[in-house]
Amino acid sequence: MEKRELIYEGKAKRVYTTANPDLVVQYFKDDATAFNAKKRGTIASKGVVNNAISETFFRLLEANGVPTHFVERLNEREMLVKRLQIIPVETVVRNIIAGSLAKRLGLEEGKSLPEPIVEYYYKNDALDDPMINQWHVTVLGMATAGELQTVTDLALKTNTILRPHLEQRGILLVDMKLEFGRHHGRILLGDEICPDTCRFWDATTRKKLDKDRFRQDLGEVEEAYHEVHRRLCAGT
Ligand code: TMP
Ligand code: ASP
Repeated sequence: MEKRELIYEGKAKRVYTTANPDLVVQYFKDDATAFNAKKRGTIASKGVVNNAISETFFRLLEANGVPTHFVERLNEREMLVKRLQIIPVETVVRNIIAGSLAKRLGLEEGKSLPEPIVEYYYKNDALDDPMINQWHVTVLGMATAGELQTVTDLALKTNTILRPHLEQRGILLVDMKLEFGRHHGRILLGDEICPDTCRFWDATTRKKLDKDRFRQDLGEVEEAYHEVHRRLCAGT
């Protein structure tokens, strides 16, 4: 699929139009940022690894009834996806206490939650992606109540599908951030699902295998991304 015009450049991806107005190409970069781009760096081969990991997850989700924007992986760094009208809400699902949940509520990192917690953040860099609730989403018109229900149901279903898949490969799904959008009246899961957007811990050692290694300067960043890739995509 021939790339045409660059329509979006984010911190980790570029998006290009194609000859088909319904389809766009996502190009995965090696650039990494944290703390709303106050920290910047590069993670060698991250784009290649995240493209492959995202493909694996999108195929698994589609096979289990979660509609996604995924069409096909075109090459090492590019994925063909359906063009979405993105809903400006980041939906976070948490299984184990970590990150901003631990910090905000003064909780100990690492404790399993009795059931998943869903949170919403307003996708707005200028405001540092503030946390919002269901009323902000619906009353301020980011999505209708019906759309938000679909988003929440699909986020929890995604969690239910990915958790055991990862655990079978020795990885705990601590939490993850998902984005959804509209495509011809349907809500589809979009963006990417990878070590940039999820927390993955080794199930035995609890070693962090995700972007927290970059955010917190823990070292062995590339190795962690490759380890997740090896466990999820071996043989593909
Ligand atoms: P948090 O604990 O920092 O709120 O992060 C929750 C999850 O969301 C974690 O898996 C990392 C992911 N995330 C992003 O994908 N993008 C972001 O900008 C942030 C802050 C978190
Ligand atoms: N997306 C964040 C940033 O703005 C990074 C993070 O994942 O923490 O730089």
